[in-house]
Amino acid sequence: MTDDVLAVHGGTPLNGRVRVRGAKNLVSKAMVASVLGDSPSKLYDVPNIRDVEVVTGLLELHGVRVSKGETEGELIFDPSNVESASTDEINVHAGSSRIPILFCGPLLHRLGHAFIPDLGGCHIGPRPIDFHIQALRQFGAVVDKAPEGMHLTAPNGLHGTKFELPYPSVGATEQVLLTAVLAEGVTELRNAAVEPEIMDLICILQKMGAIITVHTDRVIEIQGVKRLGGYSHRPIPDRIEAASWAAAALATRGDITVLGAQQADMGTFLNVFRSIGGQFEVTDTLPPNETRPGREGGIRFWHPGIELTAVALETDVHPGFATDWQQPLVVALTQARGISIVHETVYEQRLGYTESLNTMGATIQTYRDCLGGTPCRFGRRNFHHSAVIAGPSKLHAADLVIPDLRAGFSHLIAALAAEGTSRVYGVDLIKRGYENFETKLSDLGANVERV
Ligand code: EPU
Repeated sequence: MTDDVLAVHGGTPLNGRVRVRGAKNLVSKAMVASVLGDSPSKLYDVPNIRDVEVVTGLLELHGVRVSKGETEGELIFDPSNVESASTDEINVHAGSSRIPILFCGPLLHRLGHAFIPDLGGCHIGPRPIDFHIQALRQFGAVVDKAPEGMHLTAPNGLHGTKFELPYPSVGATEQVLLTAVLAEGVTELRNAAVEPEIMDLICILQKMGAIITVHTDRVIEIQGVKRLGGYSHRPIPDRIEAASWAAAALATRGDITVLGAQQADMGTFLNVFRSIGGQFEVTDTLPPNETRPGREGGIRFWHPGIELTAVALETDVHPGFATDWQQPLVVALTQARGISIVHETVYEQRLGYTESLNTMGATIQTYRDCLGGTPCRFGRRNFHHSAVIAGPSKLHAADLVIPDLRAGFSHLIAALAAEGTSRVYGVDLIKRGYENFETKLSDLGANVERV
């Protein structure tokens, strides 16, 4: 008996309202950015998720005082006394998140040295950090890899540089931004990622005093400045969580309003959702009786009541279809008539979870070939990165083990869509990125219980 197991009594449509807060993939980076300031920063609408706990722990170890603000979800970071932490203390966080790698630039600027533990995060491919290390070395950092982690120093300071990413990596773009803002001189980053979370991080850095220009063709130019202050910021809402609930509505034949969801960041998802037959309505004001603080409006997503249509889609960097939208939506695609094709071009091993869906009655086959219109980096490299989904399939209950965050949520949706009682093992992994997901599920009428 373990309390990390959820019994899901499926077969009931999810109906009701949930609210998304600040985007997980922005909030954690915003917290790291606070180290760069010489005065306190304030972040609103921070979700209560495991990644926030991990970054809070790392900030506190480095002398940043983290306290709660006046409103729910408001955090204040005081970096007045940034200090070194011991390797042992830092290593408590080894394997728990990928965010620690982003402390390199800020700690080098503040302390002249940094230690980064082994990274964690979801097991969705090798997830190398070679771009990060190459960029840091070009700024002038000396990087020593050791069995316990990575030691960095900057004996001659950090200097602006020209760097072209081999692929528009989100993390490596953030690494360059967080390092370049206080480096001496100008940095030019080519082939940068331009995800909405990166644009929001740029807004934060600009509030702190940075000078950053986003040019056309994925070029970002950063003029180093001598000092940065604190920021006060309300993050963009979590477009990935919003899409996860949208997929849940479609897969369970339900009707979910996601308060806080923002159309502008979800355009590509909404197009695909509509192509499958999903209905949505964007509202710009709060529904009656909704008085909680946060962004106004949201998006209502619902099943059309008629058969869904198969689609072909390809994941890509922004403004393409986000890889993190893929797994939840595939569950809905098992319910669509015809053959759907999904070509995953961001991660080489992000389709393993489809085996679990097959044990529930889905018909999904994965291929090494690039089945989308564009050949990607993973074609001919022996990775099963394309999926063909034949539907509609009647899903039945099964015992499922959660492999990673987004696939985990897709397992949950599948269990909710299936007839019978499924046992979902390892659900605590979902807390890494979905705040209060069990309460939200109950609010939507799901019949779930810890066993
Ligand atoms: N890559 C390299 N070398 C590097 C860095 C990346 O080869 O040094 C490759 C990766 O292996 C991958 C591709 O580049 O194939 C894209 O990786 P990226 O660096 O963009 O991903 P990330 O920064 O590690 C963030 C999100 C992910 C999201 C990706 C892509 C955070 C904390 N994580 O990861 O989110 O899938 O961008 O949009 O921001 C999630 O939220 O569940 C999640 C996995």
